[in-house]
Amino acid sequence: METAEYLEARRLLVDEALRRVLPPETAEPALLHRAMHYSIFGGGKRLRPVLVLAAGEAVGGAVEPLLPVAAVLELIHTYSLVHDDLPAMDDDDLRRGRPTSHRVFGEAVAILAGDALLTEAFGLLTAPDCVSRHDPKRLLTVIQEIAAAAGSRGMVGGQTLDIVSEGQAVDAAGLESVHRRKTGALIRASVRAGALLAGASQVQLEAITAYGEAVGLAFQIADDILNVEGEAATTGKAVGSDAAKGKATYPAVHGLAEAKARAAALLAEALKSLEPLDHRADPLRGIARFIVDRQR
Ligand code: IPE
Ligand code: IPE
Ligand code: MG
Ligand code: MG
Repeated sequence: METAEYLEARRLLVDEALRRVLPPETAEPALLHRAMHYSIFGGGKRLRPVLVLAAGEAVGGAVEPLLPVAAVLELIHTYSLVHDDLPAMDDDDLRRGRPTSHRVFGEAVAILAGDALLTEAFGLLTAPDCVSRHDPKRLLTVIQEIAAAAGSRGMVGGQTLDIVSEGQAVDAAGLESVHRRKTGALIRASVRAGALLAGASQVQLEAITAYGEAVGLAFQIADDILNVEGEAATTGKAVGSDAAKGKATYPAVHGLAEAKARAAALLAEALKSLEPLDHRADPLRGIARFIVDRQR
């Protein structure tokens, strides 16, 4: 299966799972649930949940039992976007090709929708639908890893560094640390979750972890590059905003050419990491290429 075909097929499964797990839009308070649906079902590549599935499949796991966990990764990711766009953070008006949550629902409801998505995510990980599908010990490990990746040492920590770095001189090591935390950690946790729950061997898990770390950093470098030379009509979000805010980005610190070279080197590193894995890891290989070459 070609990567585009694989991504599309898995995206559809993830969307179905999201529809199953999210409270209906009509649930009270409807305003809050409408805001949650607005952000979750407003487009998005579904890359993190697809990575959960692809990592599980790479070690011979089945897709179906991984769907609740995949949905959880998308809930956490989407919450992070809703909060990332707030006036107190990146102050963006466009996300996934539509007005940002706070533009439509107001800041208070956008904050609360993000809170609810995050809380719902951890509730789902411990709900019967998820627990009944997995070995309890493995699932506990995965829950801890997702919490660590999303929390103060991971994504939220990275978002803090991103904000306090605005307008500051950041060195190469500092920049890499921001990116590994704010974006890399959740991507690493996504692939590890899929692999762990599918019963990966130690060798397979190490390969997939190294892959996740490489593509996780590459993902944010590609995002930085798209903020310089992407098209808002394609990315569905602002272009040029990083430079305007003095954000710590690869193009700002290293220049565009070196940023592209680093992304290419990380792609090579990701592919090399997967050498111990057979053809069942081909979707992971294709996704790594997509992450670096994408236009959105
Ligand atoms: C955007 O993530 C935020 C970053 C961590 C760079 P995505 O590019 O995966 O956004 P969606 O989910 O496709 O909208
Ligand atoms: C997003 O980083 C990282 C998280 C949301 C955790 P950015 O602020 O660079 O992402 P975009 O470009 O707004 O999607
Ligand atoms: Mg940001
Ligand atoms: Mg942003």
